[in-house]
Amino acid sequence: MCFLNGMVLVQAEMVSSQKEKNSLFNHVSATLSQLDMEMIQSVPQGGNWQDIPSHIVEKSARLMQIRESGGRTTYYGRLHPDYPSYTISTYFNRPGNGTFIHPDQDRLISLREGARLQSFPDDYRFLGSQTSMYKQIGNAVPPLLARSIAESIPVGLAVDLFAGAGGLSLGLVQSGHRPIVAADNNRNMCLTYSYNHPDTMTSLSNLQNTEDFENLCNLIDNTLHGRTLQLVAGGPPCQGFSTAGKWDSRDSRNSLVVPMLKVIQRFQPEFVLIENVLGLKWMEKGAILQRIISILDSMEYSTQWYTFKAEAYGVPQRRRRIFIIGSRSGDYDAPTPFFASVKRTRNRDIIQYSSNQLPLPISVREAIFDLPEIESGNISHIQSYNGESVLSNYQKYMRDEISYEEFLKSVQS
Ligand SMILES: C[S@@+](CC[C@H](N)C(=O)[O-])C[C@H]1O[C@@H](n2cnc3c(N)ncnc32)[C@H](O)[C@@H]1O
Repeated sequence: MCFLNGMVLVQAEMVSSQKEKNSLFNHVSATLSQLDMEMIQSVPQGGNWQDIPSHIVEKSARLMQIRESGGRTTYYGRLHPDYPSYTISTYFNRPGNGTFIHPDQDRLISLREGARLQSFPDDYRFLGSQTSMYKQIGNAVPPLLARSIAESIPVGLAVDLFAGAGGLSLGLVQSGHRPIVAADNNRNMCLTYSYNHPDTMTSLSNLQNTEDFENLCNLIDNTLHGRTLQLVAGGPPCQGFSTAGKWDSRDSRNSLVVPMLKVIQRFQPEFVLIENVLGLKWMEKGAILQRIISILDSMEYSTQWYTFKAEAYGVPQRRRRIFIIGSRSGDYDAPTPFFASVKRTRNRDIIQYSSNQLPLPISVREAIFDLPEIESGNISHIQSYNGESVLSNYQKYMRDEISYEEFLKSVQS
């Protein structure tokens, strides 16, 4: 750990920097209670809480409540191997919070399987507490999605704010960008980030704290050393951002959008990328989204917002996110999808795709079925692949056996 201007720069020196070949990291699955086990054993592939028999439902207050209120059909879901997964949230350590039961084994998907479904390659290692690892993975921008989006931005130096475990940064790196500084206020996030991005200055900073904010700006300034900043990227939570008055007024003081806009105002990068949840579209009837766009417009960015579907860019997961992209030159061409995406239908048993011209999205089977079988509650964070058979080009790509280009070529041919 070293200090700079009173700000802690996190270094992952406490963890061996050897990224051992043939080692499989974080293939760890949450422990289940006996009751949880009884529940998940009765759910078939593609099924959910509605498949759990009454005599088991009656043993669980939560299930009784879900049954009475007609809860979501994703709860207590078991993944179907032939389709992309549902959204990987930060709670895939609990069966009642989504569709996280392994398709074939009576356990929840492991951290590594969650990471695969988020398109993190296998040599990306998650550090810190186990609870944090679920957050790190579930919160991340899928690197393959970030990669496609960033490929339309001319490469250059980048700053990643609210960087988390570094999913967005990984996509930036994969598309040729160079994150020089990343900031997050969570120590576990910074630990994972700095281990996997050793060339980036990882700063443990609370962006709402004036002193931390100033120190971060100094760090960016010193690291830039007069060079042009191409991109400021990040995904600030947008709650609390006031749609009235000056954008950096007292009213917006608690919003994390403000420090991000201040960094943009101060460094005037060529491009700006703000990632957010789909809910931003509806937050205050769309006023917050429009407000952010008009502030960026007033800073002379030509700004657009897009909804991207992760499965259309090679991620084996249905995940929709909003990206606000601003450019000083006015040029940004959103990437064209190279996989079909899943259409929303009322009946979750019927899967429809957006196109029959494009290849089908990567399925759960293609994403994780090469990984060794494990028991529920397995706690070994380092294992070996042990000659498990590789079934798909996505798995080969995750294992670094083929390049991204080879992976894409294989699905397009
Ligand atoms: C959605 S996550 C970021 C995910 C990341 N972009 C990725 O792709 O992996 C948001 C992050 O903001 C961080 N955060 C929340 N409040 C913050 C603050 N006041 N200052 C700095 N970081 C903060 C959280 O710790 C969390 O890691």
